[in-house]
Amino acid sequence: MSALADQVVAWQAQHGRNHLPWQQTRDPYRVWLSEIMLQQTQVSTVLDYYARFLARFPDVAALASASQDDVLALWSGLGYYSRARHLHRCAQMVMEQHGGRFPPTAAQLAQLPGIGRSTAGAIAAFCFAERVPILDANVRRVLTRVLGFGADLAVAAHERQLWDAAQSLLPKHNLEVTMPGYTQGLMDLGATVCAVRKPSCLLCPLNRQCVALAQGQPEHYPVKTRK
Ligand code: ADE
Repeated sequence: MSALADQVVAWQAQHGRNHLPWQQTRDPYRVWLSEIMLQQTQVSTVLDYYARFLARFPDVAALASASQDDVLALWSGLGYYSRARHLHRCAQMVMEQHGGRFPPTAAQLAQLPGIGRSTAGAIAAFCFAERVPILDANVRRVLTRVLGFGADLAVAAHERQLWDAAQSLLPKHNLEVTMPGYTQGLMDLGATVCAVRKPSCLLCPLNRQCVALAQGQPEHYPVKTRK
């Protein structure tokens, strides 16, 4: 039994975000596009860009055959333009190497330009219910606090340990439902309740098992020295 996963899934269904446009689909193209846009940009900003991008490039074939100038023009204002260049190259690789379909595992997704391990995990969990973890900045904060994981994440071995811990906490049953809910739930907790400063621990579904809270110092986590 994984009490933590069950709590996150239940909390997400009741208190998480469930009406964002990219949550209404399991189309990997749409989910991938949202995850890339959300990497460094907040939801409220992404919403407009996402709609315009999809209107212009409704599928991966349309994006792959566009000119780089057209892609960058639609990205204009979102910043971090290497994301847009990777996005375009990724679409072309999906066409050329995968017959126009995104591959269905996190391991394969992570081979594509602009898709790191956490983004690959998110796409695979949302679209294919694959049992893989994510570990973006928000989720790293949630998990290090719950676990009281105080090792310095600037050390690669510690980062790997945290990935292993994230793997061990994943849901074990009913994965078609629980993997998307759990993945979104950790993101939502990190984005709302488990804030960097003054987290809302009274509202947190994990407050009874949170080591950092028991220590009285949630803000101490995560520990990362050099950047
Ligand atoms: N940030 C990254 N991925 C997200 C998602 N799926 N929903 C909301 N915020 C996110």
